[in-house]
Amino acid sequence: MMAVLYYFGLYSILMIFSTISLALSETSCNPEYFKEQIKDLKLDTKSLSQYDQLISEITHCLDIDDEDKTNHQELLALINKLHYNSGIIQLSVGHDQKAIQNFEKITEKTISTYQDSYTTLASKRLNTLYIQYGAWDRLHHNDQLLSEDDKDNFENFKTLNTTLYQDRNIYDEESFINTLASMLEISPYDFELILAYTQVLLRKLSYDIDNVSIALQILKNYEILLQKNAKQLNMSQKLSIHYYSSIIQLFILNSEPTHLRKCLSIDMDNKLCRDLTLFYNRISKINPKKSQILDPQVYSTLSSDLINWNKIEDFYFNDKKPCIKWTTEPKKEFQNNYIQIEQFIIETLNKLFKQEIPNSLQPSSQLSIPPITIPDHYETTDFIKYIDSILCQSSTTTSSSSKKKSKTASFCKKALKESLTEIQFKEYKEILSKNGNGLSIEFLKNSWNSYPQVTMYMINSILRQNKKPSNELIEILFKFFHDEKLMNSSNEYVKKQFDHVNRLNEKLKQAKYQQHFNQQQQQRQQQQQQWNFYQQHQQQQQQQQQQGQAIATDKDYYKIMGLSKDAAAKDIRKTYLSLTKKFHPDKQGQLSEKEQKKNQEKMSAINEAYEVLSDENKGKNMI
Ligand SMILES: *[C@@H]1O[C@H](CO)[C@@H](O)[C@H](O)[C@H]1NC(C)=O
Ligand SMILES: *[C@@H]1O[C@H](CO)[C@@H](O)[C@H](O)[C@H]1NC(C)=O
Ligand SMILES: *[C@@H]1O[C@H](CO)[C@@H](O)[C@H](O)[C@H]1NC(C)=O
Ligand SMILES: *[C@@H]1O[C@H](CO)[C@@H](O)[C@H](O)[C@H]1NC(C)=O
Repeated sequence: MMAVLYYFGLYSILMIFSTISLALSETSCNPEYFKEQIKDLKLDTKSLSQYDQLISEITHCLDIDDEDKTNHQELLALINKLHYNSGIIQLSVGHDQKAIQNFEKITEKTISTYQDSYTTLASKRLNTLYIQYGAWDRLHHNDQLLSEDDKDNFENFKTLNTTLYQDRNIYDEESFINTLASMLEISPYDFELILAYTQVLLRKLSYDIDNVSIALQILKNYEILLQKNAKQLNMSQKLSIHYYSSIIQLFILNSEPTHLRKCLSIDMDNKLCRDLTLFYNRISKINPKKSQILDPQVYSTLSSDLINWNKIEDFYFNDKKPCIKWTTEPKKEFQNNYIQIEQFIIETLNKLFKQEIPNSLQPSSQLSIPPITIPDHYETTDFIKYIDSILCQSSTTTSSSSKKKSKTASFCKKALKESLTEIQFKEYKEILSKNGNGLSIEFLKNSWNSYPQVTMYMINSILRQNKKPSNELIEILFKFFHDEKLMNSSNEYVKKQFDHVNRLNEKLKQAKYQQHFNQQQQQRQQQQQQWNFYQQHQQQQQQQQQQGQAIATDKDYYKIMGLSKDAAAKDIRKTYLSLTKKFHPDKQGQLSEKEQKKNQEKMSAINEAYEVLSDENKGKNMI
């Protein structure tokens, strides 16, 4: 029994062993085996190493001289599929260059013998990529592969290219930029074009240093270079791109210099990035958060005891030790950190605009871009504007000593002038010269949304200068505080301005009420006068009437009707009726016009007399 088991066991082990070895020799190059493997592969980046593994195994099989060409064809089909799917995965995660490599592996074979549906698919993909990267010389010119749009783009690109490179007697920056931008619309990842575009933008930025849209476009270009053209950059070029991006982020956009970390992750010892990081860390600890000064919502709730203003002022003006190690010669004499930082920024900006570390991000010399000239003087960067606003805010807080206050107060004027645009500043000056008249709520809101601190200073200046602000000005200021919900601000500087405006507004309200009251009083008096006058008039009229009636009764009416003065109502009526009959218009036929008219007059006199007398004699009748 034992023996049987033993032999059986041995036999089965042998069987298994031989199956494995058979499988091994057959799998090496059996298409069916690879098909099985490929079937379960997923289209995701995690599977990429399996794709690579299979590709190298199949390539190995193809290298073995095999007489059975059917296997060979099947293996080629499989390797195309692997390359194509691998390329699609790379594309989906933005690794264009690796995708191109995969697709090119497929199309290269076209030149030899093998072609299949993947060849067409890969060629189409490649054409799209070649156009994006401006690799026009590698395009597959074939009606099936190149769409009408692609052909148009190619023609347009060539025309623009001629414009770009043609000799220019006069360098026209705007048309140069426009041409570059149009070409980049067709080929957004063209290495040379991006380098050229960046160069021209840096030129523009050097004399428009606070232009955010230019700065952002440069950052975008640098990002494309790092993402899409990494293969064309060596390490020192990548480091400089991170360093330049950090300068723009920190000083020009006054934002967090995220590229410093990326720079140091490539080279921990990079001196430029390290020094800038040290500076940034130091200053971030000293300054309030940006939102506390620049975000209207946060600023309006900024309670002054949240921040150690004394420490800030000491850092900028009293510290004996410079916050920056001065690296460039000649060393500048140290006065205080504020001045030192200003100088440091100029030095750093010069580095950005000179582009000399290393001098390697220049476009081809065939493009006649004038070199960047470093201006003698830069406009104030957003970074310095921010520090000036901090110092201005400091001068307005009670926690600051009065001596320091006077030192920092001058920064309010500076911050105001820097923060407002040229047009806004002109408008502000005019408003100030007209005692605040012409100030609009839009003007205040605009400036409040970008520079809340400076706006409060502006309101403070307008109010301080104005001993008798106009009603309109008070109403606008009050509405502004009301609209922005700043009436209960915990920021004491804001509260102070509001309290001032509120006092003025209360006075104005009172004055208005008084005026209204006076007006009403006046109206009432007028009405009273009118009433009195009316009554007098009434009385007079009554008197007159009574007198008039008496006269008329005595002298005229009885006589007109031919009645005696003691005639009874009955007699008056009787006489009246007979008179109307006599002078009735129907009875006037034979009379001349003149006589008719005379009779008419007589009749109206009789009518009047009858009215008065019958009225008067009503009483008599009753009795
Ligand atoms: C653009 O012009 C340059 C300089 O003449 C030339 O080297 C390049 O091949 C041109 N590119 C295209 C796509 O025509
Ligand atoms: C920034 O520069 C662009 C492009 O030159 C220009 O169109 C824009 O007006 C500038 N913006 C400011 C605020 O100066
Ligand atoms: C990097 O490439 C640029 C441009 O090709 C070249 O000028 C520079 O010397 C290179 N730097 C290094 C360290 O290789
Ligand atoms: C301001 O706050 C006080 C007390 O908290 C409150 O009585 C008053 O109504 C508030 N005023 C406004 C305008 O919100």
